[in-house]
This record gives sequence, structure tokens and C-alpha cells, in this order.
Amino acid sequence: LRELTVHLPGRDLSYRVLVAPGLRASLAQHFKALDLPRRLVVISDRRVSRLHGDQVLTGLEVGGFKPELLTVAPGERSKNWATVQALTRELLARGAHRRTPLVALGGGVVGDLTGFLASLYMRGVPLVQVPTTLLAMVDAALGGKTAINLPQGKNLLGTFHQPRLVAIDPEFLQTLAGKERKNGLAEVLKAGFIRDADLLAHLQTVRPRIFREPEVLADTIFRAVAIKAAVVAADEREADLRRILNFGHTLGHALEAASRFRLPHGQAVAYGMLAALEISRRFAGLAADACAFGQRLIREFGLATRPLDLPRQAVLAALPLDKKREGAGLVLVLLRELGESVIQTGVPLSLVAEVLEQME
Ligand SMILES: NC(=O)c1ccc[n+]([C@@H]2O[C@H](COP(=O)([O-])OP(=O)(O)OC[C@H]3O[C@@H](n4cnc5c(N)ncnc54)[C@H](O)[C@@H]3O)[C@@H](O)[C@H]2O)c1
Repeated sequence: LRELTVHLPGRDLSYRVLVAPGLRASLAQHFKALDLPRRLVVISDRRVSRLHGDQVLTGLEVGGFKPELLTVAPGERSKNWATVQALTRELLARGAHRRTPLVALGGGVVGDLTGFLASLYMRGVPLVQVPTTLLAMVDAALGGKTAINLPQGKNLLGTFHQPRLVAIDPEFLQTLAGKERKNGLAEVLKAGFIRDADLLAHLQTVRPRIFREPEVLADTIFRAVAIKAAVVAADEREADLRRILNFGHTLGHALEAASRFRLPHGQAVAYGMLAALEISRRFAGLAADACAFGQRLIREFGLATRPLDLPRQAVLAALPLDKKREGAGLVLVLLRELGESVIQTGVPLSLVAEVLEQME
């Protein structure tokens, strides 16, 4: 078992993150240590519950809990008000009260949705995150951000609600599709780029066997988790430090938008990181060999392997330019060195345009 505590200063909101192959069968033991009430509600999507629900629920029952399962349709379209309302009705019908824990069993969609509901139901109930995608394990389940989407855009309604526990079982990933694995790998690489050059070297070494060897996978996940945990612990509310988590994402979001969301998120972030590395070389003093190593690593993982085929004007138009100040440029997370990020203001749009052109 690998574990760490996310220490949140000044308040009693700290929580443990556990990483262990097979953990899904022994959740009860860890729930008991937290003194959680025996009746609890597991929220999942129908794909995850079909694949893994029985095992998780049986484990909890054998361990003395009385879990009930609520499911939603898989995918981003469940992150909305209608689903929150439907789940609320179910919770009320089942007599859930203000101490009833909600357990999010699923990817980032289930995690965000369950977290959002847990922060509002009866003014807030305990939340446990049991992430089942790589992206949720290394990113979405940590940090306490919750959200649903609105017709006007993604994640526009949200809260902060820290989990009581994050329980990560890498074996869930055995059933995860390759495309979803790549979404998570982009975030693992990002963690290395912003804070930990050793993680990048580790990734280069273990790449061919990362999903084949359980201990390698657990170790890799734990290292990425440790980075996100350190960042969110130092800065719970995103004031400043947490912005480094946006490495590759500002450009990535613009690419996603310009592709009308046809480009998968992980690929968009990967192209965003490729561009951010090149911009770092030209504008933040990143050494040429470090830039080349980072770009090669992204490609070796099968991310961003083709030339970027998007209308450049549409990408530029989707960037969050500082419109208040004429010619002020962009704020981007760049790297001074691998593992050392800076929040750079005044990055000229012309430079971004030039770098995008190279990627076509
Ligand atoms: N709160 C945060 O800090 C944060 C951070 C990053 C992303 N997010 C959010 O996370 C969401 C994306 O998360 P995601 O990529 O996990 O998407 P997701 O939850 O939609 O999962 C992707 C797909 O994988 C399936 N799946 C999940 N686990 C599986 C498993 N073990 N085996 C087989 N299939 C499985 C799901 O049914 C779904 O179809 C977005 O809504 C994003 O906004 C939140």
C-alpha cells in the first residue's frame, strides 16, 4: 500500500490518498478507520458499475456496510442539473441524511458530479473518491474541485468539497480503453513537466511495460498523485501555485474548442504541451535538448503523433487573450527547466501563431 496525506493548512480537511492494486476489495477496512456510517450510497456510471460494481459492493457488504448503488449514463452529458436533481430525488427517497457518505465510483465525470452533489445535499455530506480512470486517479479525484456543465459551457457551476478519502486501485485500469488511458497519460506527463524531472526519466524507462506490470503502474500513479497533492495542498483554492497545473492546458483548450471538441482531451493537452515546450525554449530559457527530450517523450507515448490539422485562426481566436490591455499577450505556464515551471505573462500571440504553424 502506498499512501500520502493531503495536508490542508489551518482546517481539519486533510485526507489520505491510498494507492494499491486490489484496494477495491478492501475499501470497508479503510471506511471503518474513518468512522463512516454503515449506510452509504455509491454513485457510478452504468459502464463502470457493470464492470466493477459487484466487486466493490460485495466487498463493502462483507466488510459490514450497507451500500446502495445509484447509476447515471456514462459520459460527459451526465454532468448536468437534470442528473443532480434525479440523484437528489433518489437520495431523499432512500432516506439519505446529512451524514450519509457518497462514494464516487468512476471517472472524472462521476467524481465531479458526485462531489458537486455531496457538497450541496443537506448542506454537505461526506465524500469518498474511488477513481476508475487514469485521469481521475492522477487528477480529477484530487483537490476538491467539483462541477457540472451548463448549456453555455463546461464546468460553469461548481464548488470546492474535499473528499474524506481517495482510494486508488490501479487494477480498475485493466478494463479502460486505450483512448481513455491516453487522456490520463497526458496528465501524468504534465505532472512530471511542471514539478518532477525524475518522473519524466522514470516514464521514459517504464513506458513499454507501464500497463503490464501492476507495481510499475501503481508506482507511476503514486508519483503523479504526489505532485498534484503537493500543489493542491500548498494552494487549495487555485489562487496562484495551482495555476501551474494548467501547463499545456491553455493551448490544449483552445485546440479542443477549435476542433469543435473532436480532438480528444488528452491529445489536445499533448499538442498543448508540445507547443508550450517550444514556447518555453524560445521565451523562458528552456534548453534545446530538454525541449527535444520532452517532445520526444510525448510522442513516444503515442500522444500527438500526427501533424496538427486545425485552422490556426480558429485556435488563436479561442485563446484567452488579456483583452483589457491592448497587445498584452497571453499568460502561459512555461518551463525554465524540465520540472520547473513559471507563470509567464506577456507571451506574444505572434510567437504562439508561429509555433502552431510549425506543428501543422
Ligand atoms: N475536478 C477536477 O479537478 C477535474 C480535473 C480534470 C478533469 N475533470 C473532469 O473529469 C472529466 C473527465 O474524466 P474522465 O476522463 O475520467 O471521463 P469519464 O468519467 O467520462 O470516463 C471516461 C469513460 O471511461 C469509462 N470508464 C471509467 N472507468 C472505466 C474502467 N475502469 N473501465 C472501463 N471503462 C471505464 C466511463 O464509463 C466513460 O465512458 C471531465 O468532465 C473533466 O471536466 C475534473
